[in-house]
This record gives sequence, structure tokens and C-alpha cells, in this order.
Amino acid sequence: MKLISSVIISIILFILIMSNVDCQRKQSSNAGGISLGEKVQQLLDWNAKKSILRLNGHKFKEYVKSSPRNYSVIVMFTALQPARQCVICRPASDEYTILANSYRYSSVYSNKLFFAIIDFDEGSDVFQMLRLNTAPVFMHFPAKGKAKGSDTMDIQRVGISAEAIAKWVQERTDIQIRIFRPPNYSGTVAVIMLISFVGGFLYLKRNNLEFLQNKQLWGLMSLLFVFAMISGQMWNHIRSPPFVHKSQNGGIGYFHGSSQGQLVFETYIVMVLNGLVVIGMILLTESGSQNDARKGKLMAIIGLIFVAVFFSLLLSAFRSKAHGYPYSFLFK
Ligand SMILES: *[C@@H]1O[C@H](CO)[C@@H](O)[C@H](O)[C@H]1NC(C)=O
Repeated sequence: MKLISSVIISIILFILIMSNVDCQRKQSSNAGGISLGEKVQQLLDWNAKKSILRLNGHKFKEYVKSSPRNYSVIVMFTALQPARQCVICRPASDEYTILANSYRYSSVYSNKLFFAIIDFDEGSDVFQMLRLNTAPVFMHFPAKGKAKGSDTMDIQRVGISAEAIAKWVQERTDIQIRIFRPPNYSGTVAVIMLISFVGGFLYLKRNNLEFLQNKQLWGLMSLLFVFAMISGQMWNHIRSPPFVHKSQNGGIGYFHGSSQGQLVFETYIVMVLNGLVVIGMILLTESGSQNDARKGKLMAIIGLIFVAVFFSLLLSAFRSKAHGYPYSFLFK
């Protein structure tokens, strides 16, 4: 018995070893198609024409996935075809282009780091291989070893601006890229137009400048400023988060599920809710100074309802993000 079983085991082992050898031979013949020097030269040649290398599944395997490799590759996985309905892919790819150009024409440019892009419609096999089901995704493929968790950029947290990507690239590769943005004059033009508009308005009204002392006008302007600030518009401006996103059950998610991030649409909702609470407050304070008692009462009741209902909504929006926050009012 013993003899037979040990013979069987050694046969199985032999088969396993042989198949392993076979497998290794296949791999080496695959990688042996083109040497490291040729690969680097080819990448440099492509880079001479374009600062971002467009890869398909085949090129990805040849230049990014297979060893040996002595260079890092940053790959942006994206879906630029309109049919894919990826709203932030376009701005993200514009930012990525700014970064790649800044690198390509700077003094730190070398054969240590390359920027590449893979569109879903040209390399869906790569998406499948890496189990990607969203876009855009930025990944770093290091020169040595396998990509780790932190080799995928956390877009939700840091955003998609060229500066944010450059910071992440520096963390991963120690290569510091200074972003050079093509000058954009639209801001300057807008400021000049605003100044001339306001100046012209004041000039026309020069005999009657009393409106400048209008408390309500200033009050309204300050309120708008406060709403914009407390609803996180500045955060949106800096981090450029997506407008909405796909929720787990396939619908559209209007709220970012954690207090670490936010969506643009969500900040509009928060701004409107804050506005409605303030309208309720104004109704309440103004109700006391009404000459008509019934009108004052009505205003007080409506004001109270506004404050209670919209504050509760604001609270539940907050609860849905800050998990474990214990308090709620009217609504869960
Ligand atoms: C990578 O290897 C190739 C071929 O040996 C060489 O030409 C190139 O300079 C190397 N790159 C780096 C960053 O060392």
C-alpha cells in the first residue's frame, strides 16, 4: 500500500513540477520578446511625441505589467467616450495632461517615470484584470515589486487637480513635479468687468448714493457669502469633487457617505436648507413688529415650522454622513 501511494504522490509531484516549468517557460518567452533597454528606448521615443502614452491591453502587459522594469509608470484609467457618461473623466484627464506636460518639459524628466492612460474602450481587458469598475482611477506601478493599496490614488479624498496628483506622485516616486498651468486670463477679465460694471453703476447713480446705506442690501450680501462658505463651496473649488455619484444600488447618490468627502450637489442641498432655516428665523423675528396681530401670528407659526422642519432635515443629512452621531429631531 505504502509503496503505491508514494508512487502516486511522486507522479503527482512530477506533473506539478513539470507544469510549473512549462508555465515559467511561457512567461519568460513572453517577457523575452523585447529587452529592457528596448522597452525604455521605445517609451522614450513615444514620449518624444506625446507626454502621455496611450496604452491598450497588449501594450499595458508588455510595458507596465511584465518585468523586468526599472521605471515607474503612472496609469490613468478612464472612460472618455460620451456613451460611458463619465462626467469627471474629461476634467480629470485635462488635469492629468497638465501634470504630464509639466513633467515632460521640466528638468526632472528622465527615464525613471512615465505617464500613461488607458481608455475603457481600448483596454477593457485591463479593467477586468485589475477588477476596476469605476473611472477615473490613478495607479502607480512601481519599478520594483507589486502595486500596493496606496499605489491607487484616493480621488474622493484628495481630488483630481494636477497639484493633488503631483503630490501623490511625489509620495510614491520621490519625483517632485512643479505644475505649470497655461495662463488663464478669464479670472482677470471677470474682475475687470466686475470693477467697470460696479464703477459705471456708481457713476450713473452718483447723485443718489443712499442705497449704499441700505441695511437689507448689505445683510443679503453677507448672508449669501455666509451660505457659500458654510456649505463648503470653497472645498469644492479646491478639491473639485464629482457632482453626484453612483450609489451602491445603481441609482444616483446625492450625498457622499462619509464626513471625509462631499459631492457638489450635496453642498447645494445644504446651502438651500440653511437658507430655509434662516428664512424661518427672519419670519420669527419680524413677526413681533407687525402692526396686524393676525399677520404676526401667521408669520410666527410659519417661521417656527420652517425652522423646525428644515433644521431637522439638515440634522438628518448630517447624521447620514457622521455615522454614530446620536441626535435627531422630527426625522430619523
Ligand atoms: C533601465 O535599464 C536600461 C537598460 O539597461 C537603461 O538603459 C536605463 O538607463 C535604465 N534606467 C534607469 C532609470 O536606470
